Amino acid sequence: MAPSATESTAHADGRVGRRIENYTAFWQKDISKEAEQDTGNRLDNYADVVNGYYDGATSLYEYGWGTSFHFSRYYKGESFYQALARHEHYLAFKMNLKPGMRVLDVGCGIGGPAREIAQFADVQIVGLNNNDYQVGRARQLTKKAGLEKQITYTVGDFMKLAEQFGENSFDAVYAIEATVHAPSWEGVYGEIMKVLKPGGVFGVYEWCMTDKWDPSIPSHKEVAHEIEIGNGIPEMRHLHKARQAFVNVGLEIEHEEDLADRPDPIPWYYPLEGDIGKAQTLWDMFTVWRMSSSGKFVTHHGLWFIEKLGMVPKGTWEVGETLKIAGDALVKSGREKYDPTHDRDQKTTRTTTATKTMTTPIPSPPALPFLGHIATLDRDIPQKTFDLLADQYGEIYQLNLITRQSILLASYEMQNELSNEKRFEKAVVGALEQVRNGMGDGLFTAYPGEENWGIAHRLLMPAFSTAKVRDMFGDMTDIASQMLTKWERFGPRHVIDPSEDFTRLAFDTITLCAMSYRLNTFYSENTHPFVQAMADFLAESGRRANRPPIMNTIMRGSNAKYEEDMQTMNALVLELIEERRKHPTEKQDLLNIMLNGVDQKTGQRLSDQSIRQNLLTFLVAGHETTSGLLTFTLYYLCKHPEAMRKLREEVDEVLGDQPLQLDDIGKLKYAAACLREALRLSPPATIRVVRSLEDTTIGGGKYAIQKGAVLAMLTAKCQMDPKVWGEDAREFKPERMYGENFEKLPPNAWQPFGYGMRACIGRPFAWQEAHIALASVIQKFDIVMHDPSYTLELKQTMTIKPKGFYIHAIPRNRSPSPVPVSLSSSLVDAPHMPHSRESSSEGADAHAGPKQKLYVVYGSNTGTSQTFAQRIASDAPSHGFKATLGILDSIVEHMPTDGPLVVVTASFEGEPADNAAHFFEWMQNTKGREMENVKFAVFGCGNRDWVRTYQKVPKIIDAVLEERGGKRLHERGEGDAQAAEFFQVFDEWEAQLWKTLAGEYGIAVAEQKSAASGIKMKTVDPGTSRAAVLRQPDAELGRVVENRLLTSPNAPEKRHIEFKLPESMTYRAGDYLSILPHNPARDVHRVISRFSLSPEQQIVLSSEGPTSLPVDKPISIFSLLSGYVEITQPATTRDLRDLLAVECSDATKTVLEDLSASYAEKVTTRRLSILDILEDHPDIQLPFGTFLEMLPPMRVRQYSISSSPLHDPTQPSLTVSVVEAPALSGRKDPFLGVASTFLASLRPGDMVQLAVRGSSAAFHPPEDVSIPMIMFAAGSGLSPMRGFLQERAAQKKAGRDVAKSTLFFGCRSPAEDFLYGDSDLKEWQELGIVDVRPAFSRCPEKSEGCKYVQDRAWQDRALVRGAYDHHNARLFTCGSGKMALGVKKVLTQMIKESRDCSDEEAATLFEKAIQGRYATDIFE
Ligand SMILES: Cc1cc2nc3c(=O)[nH]c(=O)nc-3n(C[C@H](O)[C@H](O)[C@H](O)COP(=O)(O)OP(=O)(O)OC[C@H]3O[C@@H](n4cnc5c(N)ncnc54)[C@H](O)[C@@H]3O)c2cc1C
Ligand code: HEM
Ligand SMILES: Cc1cc2nc3c(=O)[nH]c(=O)nc-3n(C[C@H](O)[C@H](O)[C@H](O)COP(=O)(O)O)c2cc1C
Repeated sequence: MAPSATESTAHADGRVGRRIENYTAFWQKDISKEAEQDTGNRLDNYADVVNGYYDGATSLYEYGWGTSFHFSRYYKGESFYQALARHEHYLAFKMNLKPGMRVLDVGCGIGGPAREIAQFADVQIVGLNNNDYQVGRARQLTKKAGLEKQITYTVGDFMKLAEQFGENSFDAVYAIEATVHAPSWEGVYGEIMKVLKPGGVFGVYEWCMTDKWDPSIPSHKEVAHEIEIGNGIPEMRHLHKARQAFVNVGLEIEHEEDLADRPDPIPWYYPLEGDIGKAQTLWDMFTVWRMSSSGKFVTHHGLWFIEKLGMVPKGTWEVGETLKIAGDALVKSGREKYDPTHDRDQKTTRTTTATKTMTTPIPSPPALPFLGHIATLDRDIPQKTFDLLADQYGEIYQLNLITRQSILLASYEMQNELSNEKRFEKAVVGALEQVRNGMGDGLFTAYPGEENWGIAHRLLMPAFSTAKVRDMFGDMTDIASQMLTKWERFGPRHVIDPSEDFTRLAFDTITLCAMSYRLNTFYSENTHPFVQAMADFLAESGRRANRPPIMNTIMRGSNAKYEEDMQTMNALVLELIEERRKHPTEKQDLLNIMLNGVDQKTGQRLSDQSIRQNLLTFLVAGHETTSGLLTFTLYYLCKHPEAMRKLREEVDEVLGDQPLQLDDIGKLKYAAACLREALRLSPPATIRVVRSLEDTTIGGGKYAIQKGAVLAMLTAKCQMDPKVWGEDAREFKPERMYGENFEKLPPNAWQPFGYGMRACIGRPFAWQEAHIALASVIQKFDIVMHDPSYTLELKQTMTIKPKGFYIHAIPRNRSPSPVPVSLSSSLVDAPHMPHSRESSSEGADAHAGPKQKLYVVYGSNTGTSQTFAQRIASDAPSHGFKATLGILDSIVEHMPTDGPLVVVTASFEGEPADNAAHFFEWMQNTKGREMENVKFAVFGCGNRDWVRTYQKVPKIIDAVLEERGGKRLHERGEGDAQAAEFFQVFDEWEAQLWKTLAGEYGIAVAEQKSAASGIKMKTVDPGTSRAAVLRQPDAELGRVVENRLLTSPNAPEKRHIEFKLPESMTYRAGDYLSILPHNPARDVHRVISRFSLSPEQQIVLSSEGPTSLPVDKPISIFSLLSGYVEITQPATTRDLRDLLAVECSDATKTVLEDLSASYAEKVTTRRLSILDILEDHPDIQLPFGTFLEMLPPMRVRQYSISSSPLHDPTQPSLTVSVVEAPALSGRKDPFLGVASTFLASLRPGDMVQLAVRGSSAAFHPPEDVSIPMIMFAAGSGLSPMRGFLQERAAQKKAGRDVAKSTLFFGCRSPAEDFLYGDSDLKEWQELGIVDVRPAFSRCPEKSEGCKYVQDRAWQDRALVRGAYDHHNARLFTCGSGKMALGVKKVLTQMIKESRDCSDEEAATLFEKAIQGRYATDIFE
């Protein structure tokens, strides 16, 4: 019979009655008889086992070993006690114990280690022991040592530490060969975790069996048994179990080592061997002797004798006998591990580890009391918050969402590991659980194991098989053709909301295919009430999941609407069922299967409620996702002209002009790749949630997961893991999904349809439907974005879709002529901008005028090329041409041949403008004589700062047009935007163009255009009554939150300006904000005074030709001048000609002629504007309308965002250098830059028209945070670098291992303009993420003699080289063109120095070295 908990007769010294006597009864003498129940019994009564052992063993230990009951390593010549002390010091050292810390010694024995460590580390120690005898002895010895003020002892249970001491009560805890006595490691470590303060340290020497120890082998088991019985250990356990236990309770292992594994010449167990020859000192010989055979003989008999005399408690002798067994067993196993000739890994007795612990291993962002993380979620798009937190925290983090604790996962490794149905099952929590309010235990929302799920699954799976879905082809194409017809009917100018039409498509398709019911949503203006009700229902379900439950009960209005939506949805479903019951059909569609099917397994049918809920499920699951997929795919294709072209080529090849056939679908391999890639980047079902079926770990044992824990995989993030997809994981590249590339992907890397038995049942259905829709659309239309600069914004119900994404569908079988679609407005629908400038060009048709057609097309991002194109178009009538104006993308495959084609276009990093990208891609891939009969002329806008790609796009267009058979009418023009004569160059080119065209088309050269033609003006309000509310703050505008000065009063002004973004606008570190500014009020008033106008005067402008001025609506003079035109641009020679054409004095005429003659010197260099000239010559009788027409339209300005969304996704900042300097024209008032002056004047609360612009793919911090950045910046060029560093700081604070970057920063002096020098930069230096190396131009002595960034970079070149060569560093430069050139020179010099090569070779090597690793952003 197994012994049980022992009754007590306490001895005066603390030892208890029959505990010792009972001790050996816990083990079977014969190991072969040891059974599981013996171990169980020992674990249940661990206190008695241990106490029994120590009651008996303590005196023996003291006699045989001293007061520190543990092993240690030995150095040669080191005495036994010295080694024990050193071993204790080592633990204290590894734990980094500091004077004054409060430390707990768990299982303190008789206080030997406590006394040693207290003296060594000067800490306060509380010793804990459950053996009264030992505690008594410890107190005695401590008093004797005079340490009673530093060390106290408590009798207590290490399995109840928190109860005894309270949580967070110790700075550190250690345990030396004690916790092996615990019934479970999780138990004792868990208690230790509780009493540790956050960040506290736990150090332990633990006894473990190595992982090769195999208890099923009898000899292995025997050794363990002997160790157990000999040492009072309930069970010896594996090393990996100890490691696992740390992780499971939330400790993080900082240091771990097997001290028994060190190649020590004297083994740890030598004192047990009793080999006197190994004793290191004379005194040690006695210690060793006690364990030798003669020593043991003496001890054995002596002990028997004194027990009989009653001097020691009964049983002591027998415990002593077990000690001998233990000693022998330890030696045996220790030798086997120690002896190098032996199989080292076979078995061992003990491993010692020193372990330091931290707080929670799964990081969690700061939370609010009561509300947890709920309040931090984006209200409309929670997904946005989840993704940003993943960027910050990396592969895993934890959120408290009140109703549930969720662990969010964002790496491939995690997604792959969680795709295991033995360990994890689908969890219906959060929004999905709320959706059960409408869909109950329907397929999608059923809890695992619900019976109805099984019935419906078995009945309906076959109905969605690929074979069955093929039968639905006819119905699917029927609906698709309804959509195509609608797009054709509405024409190319119609603005299409693809998300809305694809929703119609998917909705009609599922109802027709699954329920044989036609909803005909393409025949009604409005969306079906079900769709709206469903969207609202899903959105509200999401919100309900993220509100405290109490809130859900009191929100009466929302609840009523929720109920109403459910009723609307149910009404349709009931109608469908009713309809079918009234008119039964034979067709084995989904509805019939549900109504009539009998489950083979259970013999059951679906209940009426289940049918209703599953029908709802199909309507919801079947259309939200598919419409999202199609919309995202179109978006990505619009943004990636190459992919669009390849797809078009495939569709043309497979389909030609024939309607799509079922068998064509399999041939559309590139279409499949595009759909897959869109599903990778933007999976409509954004999260897959599972529950753990067991206590386990994930991430290779790194993170402890408890049974029942909820784990949510962020599908998009997992599918963008750079480890699988590379550094360009965020980019749309269908090639990685093409053919065998897709097949070669690692398992579970692409998972947009879920996993396992709860994966999507509708996948074949959605796949076929999406192929049909996509191929048909591409076959029939050129798809052009309504706003080519649109970047993805999201909306979320339960799934996500693009928001605000609009397109034009231009029939591909149109007549060859540019289709004037949207205006490439630089800002999204800037309200001040007229929207269809091109259409007004067509208004010219109404008037009898020139008949010869002229096509003017442009590619423009910031408006200059557009302005030039517009100028040509508006000048056309006066030169005998009828112009049509359009964007370059509107003439893809449709080159006009019935009139000359004039192209005005720019380059951006060598790439075309947004609205020319498809044209550029298409034309470069033409192979024959596609441009035959095209007569053309090209003008390029560029900037010489982009040395390698200056004029790249216009040059290519000009060359390819000719190569493919086109006729160049006029030499290509080149304007350099940073040169003062930019406008002038264009004017001259245009003047020559008209001459050429006149010659070519036999049109008499027109008279100089009268300066008074063009704009007409009518006053509608004399300015006496002020319009009360001229500019309502628009909800889409950004609001200024902060505007502060960063520089000292005498330095050029630089400001930090923060905006609250319009909702749903997002950005990445490195992106830009486009700002549509107002002119400085001072300059507006200069115009008003010069023309003697009233600022409040209201006028209506009308125009015969295209114009960027606001026509046909009343506007005040002030608003017009302030918002629509650039007032201070230098005058062009054409402007001078126009001025000469109006009435003025002879003296003025002479001046004007002189200005024309010495144009460069007197106008360009001085940046003399029309206004400057008019002010100087009041006699020039220029009509105000003509003046307006001469001015270029207001341009947007780009500013690098100087913050990171990880800091605050809604509030980006700019770092702006304010342009204010003595005017080059020599006027007494300073020159004021338009946008920077506007920005400087803003106050918190002001609304600004802005838009986020994505920067090039290379200009973002590397995804891999272990890659350092080397940054070169001067002045406000610091902007993007600050954003990068803020991002890295947030990641570091979230506990990630962030590499240290280097920032070379140039400014005047620390006191004047060291931007963020004593705030952010200082903090980030202290955080260890950046090393700032300034260059002060006005006090180089404070920057190691370096004046400029380049000088500093050269001085610190070893650092740059090291980071580049050894740490894969990425390089970034931002600032003026001059500085960028300087940095480039220095970097090339570094190469030259290290390679000892020529300048040319260095330049070539530089180009090679920077491929993909160096990005520049030039401001001017
Ligand atoms: C990609 C990119 C990112 C940028 N990021 C930033 C940023 O983060 N921070 C920032 O501050 N800027 C940035 N800029 C520059 C910014 O866009 C503007 O160009 C700058 O603010 C000047 O605009 P403005 O409207 O104030 O001046 P404008 O009204 O456009 O005037 C500038 C023009 O005036 C001329 N000029 C200058 N001084 C005089 C003078 N004394 N007399 C007569 N003419 C003069 C200049 O040659 C220049 O042609 C960036 C530019 C780019 C292209
Ligand atoms: C591109 C289109 C689609 C995508 C991306 C998609 C995605 C998904 C995903 C990720 C799941 C698993 C959800 C989870 O793990 O909780 C799922 C389940 C489901 N989907 Fe789809 N789906 C699509 C189209 C469809 C269509 C067209 C239908 C029906 C016609 C459909 C019906 C369902 C159903 C019924 C389930 C639940 C299956 C179950 O749990 O037994 N889906 N879908
Ligand atoms: C980010 C950026 C990149 C540029 N890259 C180039 C380039 O590679 N080659 C070039 O000639 N000009 C380049 N430029 C200059 C523009 O082409 C020039 O400013 C042009 O006038 C813009 O025309 P738009 O206003 O019609 O868009 C770049 C300008 C910016 C802002």
